[in-house]
Amino acid sequence: PRCIWLTRHAESGDQLSGILGSHRGELTHNGRNYCRELASFLHKCRREMEEAGHVESCGDFLVLMGTAPVHYSTLQSMIKSSSSSLSDGDPSPASISGASSPPAVPVNCKGFQAMSTSLLNELDGGVCNGLSYAEIIRDYPDLWAARERDKLNFRYPNGESYQDVIGRLRPIIIELERQRRSILVISHLAVQRCLYAYFTGTPMEEIPYLNMDMHTVVELRPGAFDCQVRSENLWD
Ligand code: F6P
Repeated sequence: PRCIWLTRHAESGDQLSGILGSHRGELTHNGRNYCRELASFLHKCRREMEEAGHVESCGDFLVLMGTAPVHYSTLQSMIKSSSSSLSDGDPSPASISGASSPPAVPVNCKGFQAMSTSLLNELDGGVCNGLSYAEIIRDYPDLWAARERDKLNFRYPNGESYQDVIGRLRPIIIELERQRRSILVISHLAVQRCLYAYFTGTPMEEIPYLNMDMHTVVELRPGAFDCQVRSENLWD
C-alpha cells in the first residue's frame, strides 16, 4: 500500500518574480498555506494507513527534499503541525522564514523521517541562475534559441541539462524503488518532471514539457506492470 508522493516546493517570492533556480527566498502567503495543507494531507494519509493496519509494515513516512531553506521550512511546518492542531491557521512567519539551515543529519518527528539532499535541487541554470526568462531572452538570445531547439539536451553554461538531471537522480530513483515505506519528495519543476517520467514511462523527449502544477501532490503507486497516478490540488 505504500505511495510515492511528488510535489514542487511551496510558492516563494523568487518564483513569483519568475526567477530561475533553487529558490532560497521567503515563501509567499499561498506557499505557507500550502505547507499547512501538505502537512494535513500527510497526516490524513497516515491516519488512513493506521486505520487499515498498514503502518506496522510501512514504518515512518520518509520526506526527501532539496537543500533550499524553503524546503526545510516546509518540514518545520510539518513538525509544528504534528505536535499541535492541524487547523491552527497560517504557520507563523518565524517558523517558515527560511532562516534555518537544512539538517546535517536526518530529523525525526512523530511518524516522519526527513532528509535533505542536493540531488533534489532544481536544474542548475548556470550563468542564467537568478535571471527571469525575459532577461535570458534579452541577454542571451543565442542560448535561448539553442534551448528552444533541443530542451532535453541543452546545458546552461556552468549549469545543467535535463539529461544531467536525469543522471544525477539515479541514486534517488534507486532509493525510491528500494524503500517499502511511503515517501514524499519535495523538489522542483524540472526534477519532478524527470521523476514522474521515470515511474510513468513517459518518453524522454516529452520530459521537459510535462505540466506539473504548483501546490499539488502527485501520488504514484508503482506496481509490477504499471504505475497508478492520481493528483490532488491542495491549494491554489
Ligand atoms: O520555478 C521555475 C523553475 O523551477 C526554474 O527554476 C527552472 O529553471 C525551471 O522552472 C525549469 O523549467 P523549464 O525547464 O521549463 O525552464
